[in-house]
Amino acid sequence: MEKQWRCTVCGYIHTGENPPEICPVCGVDASFFELIVQSDETNSTTSTASTATDIKTATAAKLVNAQSDKAKALREALYRISYGLYIITAQAEGQDNGQCANTCFQITSDPARLAIGINKNNFTHELIQKSGKFGVSVLNQTGQDYARRFGYKSGRDVDKFKGLTAVHRGESGVLLLDDVLVTMEATVLSQMDAGTHTLFLADVTNGEILQEGDPMTYAFFRASK
Ligand SMILES: Cc1cc2nc3c(=O)[nH]c(=O)nc-3n(C[C@H](O)[C@H](O)[C@H](O)COP(=O)(O)O)c2cc1C
Repeated sequence: MEKQWRCTVCGYIHTGENPPEICPVCGVDASFFELIVQSDETNSTTSTASTATDIKTATAAKLVNAQSDKAKALREALYRISYGLYIITAQAEGQDNGQCANTCFQITSDPARLAIGINKNNFTHELIQKSGKFGVSVLNQTGQDYARRFGYKSGRDVDKFKGLTAVHRGESGVLLLDDVLVTMEATVLSQMDAGTHTLFLADVTNGEILQEGDPMTYAFFRASK
């Protein structure tokens, strides 16, 4: 079995001897990866497989390689989907927080309904579950600093709004960024367990257009880092 590495920021799993230089999902570097499955020594048996056991082991190793190639191709395919970049904010019990997310998309326009995918370990996840509400700030193409501020550290460890004056509170109480294209507030309708993440389906209860311009895409963020 090959080593497996997990991105501690977004949960992406990488199979290989070393962690990837850059996480293909959230863009953090190798230092954000932790080893979750250790390699065993089966690979060394492939060249000297002379006994039935060795042959069996070699065949199993080939199967694992074929499976990991397929998994790699699947991840590459997913990576080709175009994403935007958003700051998802939430407030509960007097605490404010926000995180960067690329998983935010419109489900229907009438009623105005969207979905977000949030890692269960995130502080934002906890606040959304407590309040049933969240805000979405749609980044413009100069929003890289916001993605960095909200995307790499947890609100459990730092106050991500500290020193940030360009924010306002929406009708639902969540903080929203001023220097963005659009903000929305949403109320959770239902949620689905998606493994590492929860998919929150929500009705948009309020929206404001603050700027004209093109949104930040995930590809643009990666290219301009
Ligand atoms: C470009 C980028 C995209 C990200 N997309 C998501 C996402 O869609 N869902 C998610 O749960 N985390 C995503 N993350 C990771 C969170 O922003 C990150 O784990 C954050 O520190 C969580 O903060 P919190 O614990 O304060 O909520 C992304 C990070 C970056 C940099």
